[in-house]
Amino acid sequence: MASIEFEHVKKVYPGAKKPVVPDLNLKIEDKEFIILVGPSGCGKSTTLRMIAGLEDITGGTLRINGKKVNDVPARDRDIAMVFQSYALYPNMTVYKNIAFPLKVRKLTPKEMKERIEDIQEKAKTKNLPAEEVKRLVEKASKEKHYSKEEIDERVHRVAKILDLEEYLERKPANLSGGQRQRVALGRAMVREPKVFLLDEPLSNLDAKLRTEMRSQISLLHKKLNTTFVYVTHDQTEAMTIADRIVVLNKGVVQQFDTPRNLYERPTNKFVAGFIGSPEMNFLPSVVRMEGKKAYLEIEGHKMDVSDSLNRQGALRALDGKTCDFGIRPESITLVTSQNIHSLEPERIFKIHVKIAEYLGYELYLYFDFAGRQAIARVPSKYLIQSGDDVKLYFDPNKGYLFDPETTSTVAFPAPSEEVRLDV
Ligand SMILES: Nc1ncnc2c1ncn2[C@@H]1O[C@H](COP(=O)(O)OP(=O)(O)O)[C@@H](O)[C@H]1O
Ligand SMILES: [Mg+2]
Repeated sequence: MASIEFEHVKKVYPGAKKPVVPDLNLKIEDKEFIILVGPSGCGKSTTLRMIAGLEDITGGTLRINGKKVNDVPARDRDIAMVFQSYALYPNMTVYKNIAFPLKVRKLTPKEMKERIEDIQEKAKTKNLPAEEVKRLVEKASKEKHYSKEEIDERVHRVAKILDLEEYLERKPANLSGGQRQRVALGRAMVREPKVFLLDEPLSNLDAKLRTEMRSQISLLHKKLNTTFVYVTHDQTEAMTIADRIVVLNKGVVQQFDTPRNLYERPTNKFVAGFIGSPEMNFLPSVVRMEGKKAYLEIEGHKMDVSDSLNRQGALRALDGKTCDFGIRPESITLVTSQNIHSLEPERIFKIHVKIAEYLGYELYLYFDFAGRQAIARVPSKYLIQSGDDVKLYFDPNKGYLFDPETTSTVAFPAPSEEVRLDV
């Protein structure tokens, strides 16, 4: 049971001029699975390490379960962390690796009894509040000595969840990458922590295994029913496993939202470009207001966007300005003899395909457009090759527009269709 709350948290590394994290405000609910995603160096690991207590907090307040923990040392936070380099003990069996965190804590039942008596005595003489006494007793009881049977029971329980029972007597060298990563997870799980922190735990695995482990970690979260905070630079990984995702850039939260909202309603150009693969196209276009009509000028074409991008009148303030028109590669339509008669000519552009990439079910077309590199995804049944000239249709109903100064999203596409299956 643990919520995690950042209140104006700031982190400046010693000797650094600028903070890595200037002013972080974030509330992670109990039992939630949260992903922190952002480019390399944006402060993800730093944020995670502050939760773990491995990194000091320069300013602000960090609360775990409502309690301020700024000065609580890592070992008293009841948190487990799994890293990219899982650092198993090579000479120990899987069993011993998993059991290790239980063995380093070693108060025997007799010592435990004495410790608790000490605390109660101290509480009387110093008149400590009941809350504090409870905390000290709880803390002491976590340092208990686990009997052989208890250890055995816990290791087997963890091994069963992670499907490692057959490998308990093996050494790490004789395991696959995925199995090793599961042992590292087991080692974190065995103490039954309140919070799991995972820092790029799958980065060392090959693509196929990564996909497999992704769903396993998601299942693990459901089984353990505790708070997970997971860091990755990979937006696909983030989109596939989280309930909610925090998009970070330069230590600043850009958006904290569901995967669907990040993809469909990005708050700014950074999120729009970061989420989705291949990346959204950003095409420079000039906004023209003419009475009640709104137009976008792109490459000599004048597209009427009165009923699309300017639905809510968002473009009025941008008259005459060059803005980024954003359109995802999957929202661009290939013009064919079948559809050309139903498409508005002003939205059709002739382009030269620099590279056509065949991906089985679709083609990626790379082309230069309005001085930018652009990409379209089209069905692979169309026989298009690098060097071909084709026509593409840009639908402003599927586009975004970003404010040139603030980079905030000023206009969104019409909401996409959502279908509830009824079979
Ligand atoms: N111990 C440290 N001392 C000084 N600077 C650090 C330290 N650790 C990380 N940094 C810097 O802080 C920034 C954020 O690092 P980090 O949190 O590791 O980013 P991420 O995990 O998102 O890649 C980087 O510019 C990095 O160089
Ligand atoms: Mg990192």
